[in-house]
This record gives sequence, structure tokens and C-alpha cells, in this order.
Amino acid sequence: SETSTPELIQVRTEGRVGIVTLNRPKQLNALNDQLMNELGAALKAFDADDGIGCMIITGSEKAFAAGADIGAMATYSFADVYKGDYITRNWETIRSIRKPIIAAVSGFALGGGCELAMMCDFIIAADNAKFGQPEIKLGIIPGAGGTQRLPRAVGKAKAMDLALTGRMMDASEAERSGLVSRVVPLDKLMDEALGAALQISQFSQMAVMAAKECVNRAYEGTLADGVMFERRLFHALFATEDQKEGMDAFVNKRAANFKHA
Ligand code: HXC
Repeated sequence: SETSTPELIQVRTEGRVGIVTLNRPKQLNALNDQLMNELGAALKAFDADDGIGCMIITGSEKAFAAGADIGAMATYSFADVYKGDYITRNWETIRSIRKPIIAAVSGFALGGGCELAMMCDFIIAADNAKFGQPEIKLGIIPGAGGTQRLPRAVGKAKAMDLALTGRMMDASEAERSGLVSRVVPLDKLMDEALGAALQISQFSQMAVMAAKECVNRAYEGTLADGVMFERRLFHALFATEDQKEGMDAFVNKRAANFKHA
């Protein structure tokens, strides 16, 4: 629940960065309802906190998340999942978060784990990361956007290949094909993700939120609509103090100091 202490995630902050570590290591961070509820609540709390400008979701060395919890799903009927909206019900929360979320992925990101990573704004991968949508092997298909976000990220050919064969893609293939933005050695993963998140968290929060909204518009809509949407938000940012501060700082050759509350 939203108020009790989370059990299946760990939550901490570093400067203006909120970090959620998925913490069901023995089950390779298999995503059950409780874990997804805790994750959603933690992200919402960070989103509402003026002291936080960016978030990171990460897992263990061996697994970001090996998917939705197969044991929990195994006996569900159609009526169970359709009426109760089990499994997928609390996933939309992540999409509603307005500050950036970086997925720092090491080890397995499979099924719902890959989908969770793709719901984040970008993915930084360790060199041992493995991505895949192996649902087909279980007699199902991806259920949290895998068949939609994967082709947008890597194109139809690779998305079909992965969804139909269930094979895994390693970190270098994932970077080559555009699924991840950076690949780093495993022991540098959190430094890299935290460096990016700390940087983002220092910028104008409104500009950061607008940039996220605009890039998502490109991902989800048409070019003409996206260009108009971008123009409106671009113009709107000239109403912020942060724009005055950022440009004055540049002109006067000093560091910008953005207000975050
Ligand atoms: C429940 C899981 C799990 C999962 C692993 N475990 N993945 N439990 N749900 N998705 C558990 C195993 O049962 C095992 O528990 C322990 O974690 C360690 O896993 P092993 O298989 O022993 O490890 P290893 O041999 O290293 O193999 C790793 C692996 C494999 C390749 C990742 O675990 C695997 O194939 N997992 C399933 C991946 C998958 O199919 N994901 C898609 C799920 S469907 P015990 O108790 O035996 O030690 C899905 C739908 C999304 O995600 C819907 C979106 C809402």
C-alpha cells in the first residue's frame, strides 16, 4: 500500500535524485502486484517532491527484472485477468510520472522487466544486460507495451524476431539497435546513471518536464502534431524565470542557478 514501508523495493535519494532498487533478488525481481504497487507509490512520491528532479529504477547485478511473476499468473483465468485487471493493472502509473526516469539495467530485463525498462525515459545498460520478450515461450504475448514500444525503439525486424523467437539480445545489440542509450561496464553502471540523473536534476524542472513531454509526443504521435506541440511548449518556457536565469547566466559567463520549487 502507499503508506506502509515497502518490502520488495528499496528507496533512497542522492542529492536531487530519487533511486528505486527492485529488491526480490531470489526471484530475479519478478514483478508481482505488491512490487508494482510499491514501485508506483515510490515514483509518485518522488514526482510530487520538489526536492527531486530525476529518478532511477535499477535492480540487482543479475537481474533488472526477469518479468512478471509467472508463479502468481500461472493459474489465472481469462475472467480473473480481464475483470480484475491483474498483472497489468498498476503499470500505467509509470507512464503518468512527469519527471524523467532512467532505467539502469544490469542482467536480465525480460518480459515485463524489458517492458518496465522501456516505460522509463531512457535505458543505461551494463555490459552484462540481456533484453528479451520471452512470453511466447509461455503461451502468451507481452502485456505491458512490449509489442508496441519495442518496434518503436528497434524497428519491426528486430521486434518481430524477439517477440516471435523469445531470444535474448545482449547489451551491445541493444545499443546498436537503439533500445539503450549507453552501455557501460557493470561496475560503472550506477555511477553513469547517477551522473546523468544528477545533471538532469540541476536543470530547470519545467524545461526538463517539457522536454520529456515533447519527446514522448514524437514517440506516440504524428510529426505535424509533435512539431506544433513542441512549439507551444518552447514558447511557454519563455514565461519562466528559469529561461531568464539560464540565458542571463550564459550571456554573463556564469553558472546558471535554477529554482526547483
Ligand atoms: C517468477 C521467476 C521468474 C519470473 C525467474 N524466477 N524469473 N519467478 N517469475 N518471471 C525465479 C525462478 O523460478 C527461480 O526460482 C529463481 O527466480 C532463479 O531463476 P533461475 O531460472 O533458477 O535462474 P537462471 O537459471 O539463471 O535463469 C534466469 C532466467 C530464467 C533465464 C531469467 O529465470 C527465466 O527464463 N525466467 C523467466 C523469464 C520469463 O519468461 N519472463 C517473462 C515472464 S511473462 P527458484 O525458486 O526456482 O529458485 C511476463 C508477462 C508480462 O513478463 C506481462 C506484463 C504485465
